[in-house]
Amino acid sequence: MKVAVYPGSFDPVTNGHMDLIKRGAGLFDKLILGVLINPQKHPLLSMEERIDILSELTREISNIEVKAFQGLLVDFVEREKADVILRGLRTSEDFAYELPLAQANYKMNRKADTLFLATAPEYSYISSGGVKEILHFGGDIKDMVPEVVYKRLLRL
Ligand code: PNS
Repeated sequence: MKVAVYPGSFDPVTNGHMDLIKRGAGLFDKLILGVLINPQKHPLLSMEERIDILSELTREISNIEVKAFQGLLVDFVEREKADVILRGLRTSEDFAYELPLAQANYKMNRKADTLFLATAPEYSYISSGGVKEILHFGGDIKDMVPEVVYKRLLRL
């Protein structure tokens, strides 16, 4: 059984994340969405909200689990007995950011392989940070996030 961890802040989850989640669930026997608890960051959405939203969005995909994690990703991967870390690549900037992370993770744990999926082109401009900034200045984020996220963010 091949198990993958897709880690992230998911603050908030975007349409790009959802595309990767669905494709990842099709590639592995089990896909664990690892939601990072980062005490240094002040997230827009609480951990509970992010977990609730991801759980609701993936309710009908039976091989997905949603879990919070703290500390090193490689330790979470080890605890979950996962084979692979899954990450998406939108641009060459993502690649420049992701490659050393993947290499550091592999250096720390030779069993922690990272696999990258190319983001679908229609989502490659979307980022959680961009969504937050557009929201902050009153722009429209309707096409960037799932409807449940859109409705939740409008209530903030
Ligand atoms: O969605 P994000 O914020 O781009 O996800 C980043 C994430 C969670 C993959 C990364 O920050 C991470 O793995 N954090 C856990 C701490 C860790 O293992 N750091 C060492 C990486 S070399």
